[in-house]
Amino acid sequence: MNKQKLIGPFHQLLTLDKLPLKGPLKDESLEIIQEAGILIRDDKILEVGNFEELRSKITLDQTELHLLEGDCMAVPGWIDCHTHICFGGTRARDFAMRNAGKSYLEIAEAGGGIWDTVTQTRKLDLIQLAANTTKNANQHLMEGVTTIEVKSGYGLNHEEELKMLRAIKEANSKTLADLISTCLAAHMKPRDFEGTNAEYLKLIGETLLPQIKIEQLSNRVDAFIEKSAFSSEEIEAYFEKAKELGFDITVHADQFTTGGSEVAVKFKAKSADHLEASGENEISLLAQSDTIAVALPGASLGLGCDFTPARKLLDQGGSLAIASDWNPGSAPMGDLITQASILATFQKLSTAEVLAGLTVRAAATLNLSDRGILKQGMLADFSIFPTNNYQEILYHQGKLKPVQVWKRGVRVTASAK
Ligand code: NIG
Ligand code: FE
Repeated sequence: MNKQKLIGPFHQLLTLDKLPLKGPLKDESLEIIQEAGILIRDDKILEVGNFEELRSKITLDQTELHLLEGDCMAVPGWIDCHTHICFGGTRARDFAMRNAGKSYLEIAEAGGGIWDTVTQTRKLDLIQLAANTTKNANQHLMEGVTTIEVKSGYGLNHEEELKMLRAIKEANSKTLADLISTCLAAHMKPRDFEGTNAEYLKLIGETLLPQIKIEQLSNRVDAFIEKSAFSSEEIEAYFEKAKELGFDITVHADQFTTGGSEVAVKFKAKSADHLEASGENEISLLAQSDTIAVALPGASLGLGCDFTPARKLLDQGGSLAIASDWNPGSAPMGDLITQASILATFQKLSTAEVLAGLTVRAAATLNLSDRGILKQGMLADFSIFPTNNYQEILYHQGKLKPVQVWKRGVRVTASAK
């Protein structure tokens, strides 16, 4: 049997425990253990508590001691519940054109947009694509992101979507981070498909989704409901099929125009993501539902658009997670904490709301109940920041990096990746 490990002392340990899944949160509701330690065995937490008390309970022949010196505090590993980090190429030209005032259509006509990434992604073989994904995942992991959702959606035909999902699976075996894959074959109708949107969706619903189930490549289905992609009506038949096959649903909703959030709620989606265009009706519908709103400040920063109305969603009783949307087009930065900190300043979010949105509430969007909280029985996924005050993490707007990251009880180092 592996030795247990005791890590500490931490001046503060934020458990993120005992918080409601929905509604606004005050910082006073954060459970903070002072002078804390974490006792772990294998990949799980045995106990969190006062360091000296934990130390008095263990014997040194059974326990590896990981003593910390100087200012430090512990938080659960961040969970990035919406990314597109499996891709080929770059869209720097799109970014420059957009900032120079070119329209969506002009950029697409110049060969940019999602279809450009599809073309560049199709050129890579599975191993190259898995290597790109692993590299991005490891970059996230070193910054404390221990669970990462990764979407397909740059393949857009049967074989290419399967290649992406297999590449994500391969990358998952290469990185210590946990990658949770989602099928986004409904990202847009591929330009080389001769048929209607409905025919494309029917085809992938009848052929691709069952194959994904057979190969156990994913249990989540996403769709981009938008004027430039698919209408609500078109997606409904596809979601019926996905639900029948047992997939969880998530939606790219209300990014530029409304409609997606209504479908998300109707299909009891785990999450409705983006929501930059949501108005009062959409906010109230989401807030009354069990569908978690996911703010993607990286897309607002990448496109120069409004932020998700996070404050209103929380105040009306909704649940909010925050994710990076890391992708080559609309959100190339991929720095989750910088983005979450900026969202907080513009939307006036409490530290508790942001930290819950990066941990326990993000875990719920992925249907994961074994992480996002530091307590007995949970995965030993946590980061150590070089400060004695948890408020410093967002205050530094992403510049304060973790000094240690632990994933499933293993200390992540550049060489252990
Ligand atoms: O989440 N909105 C649609 N999909 C992505 C963008 C993908 C891309 O531009 O490559 C998003 O922002
Ligand atoms: Fe996205």
